[in-house]
Amino acid sequence: MSLEELAAARRTHKSFGPEPVSRSTLLELLEVARFAPTHHLNQPWRFRVLGPETLEALKRVAGEKEAQKLDRAPTLVVASAALTGDLVMDEEDVCATAAAVQLVLLAATERGLATYWRTPQVLRTAQGRAAVGIPPGERFLGLLHFGTPAREPAPRERDPVESYVDFLP
Ligand SMILES: Cc1cc2nc3c(=O)[nH]c(=O)nc-3n(C[C@H](O)[C@H](O)[C@H](O)COP(=O)(O)O)c2cc1C
Repeated sequence: MSLEELAAARRTHKSFGPEPVSRSTLLELLEVARFAPTHHLNQPWRFRVLGPETLEALKRVAGEKEAQKLDRAPTLVVASAALTGDLVMDEEDVCATAAAVQLVLLAATERGLATYWRTPQVLRTAQGRAAVGIPPGERFLGLLHFGTPAREPAPRERDPVESYVDFLP
């Protein structure tokens, strides 16, 4: 697939098959994060792959309704950015981590996996962060879902390139 095809093929999936993504495949995907642009070479991206005990702890904190949503995908990874406390650097480090996340999602898409970048409220709470081991000083960016696709998402609607690009004189 060309990069353009890969970017278009990455979709938000909310329905996954039961097979988890293997540890070796996850490492391949997460290794691609290394190549994201990063000012000062801060490399702020952090990824925590949830094991069964951690997922149970998160579900307990999340409550019954939200816990069901945490069961949608067989493999969950928390993405966060390690910040320094410098406001400008922190903004750039969040950007770098978002770029790293997108690379990981594209690598998964390229392997035929379904993905979903989600930001559940529970991971913005102190208890949720503690359940998955996010220390103070890290910004939660997303709960990344991985698995086999169970249902294709509806066709995507996006604005055309002319709507968001200006060529300045
Ligand atoms: C930072 C970020 C957070 C997101 N959080 C959620 C979320 O909490 N719930 C959700 O349904 N989708 C979430 N999404 C996914 C978007 O809803 C999705 O990208 C959008 O619907 C476009 O669909 P596509 O990814 O298939 O192009 C998030 C996306 C990003 C980039």
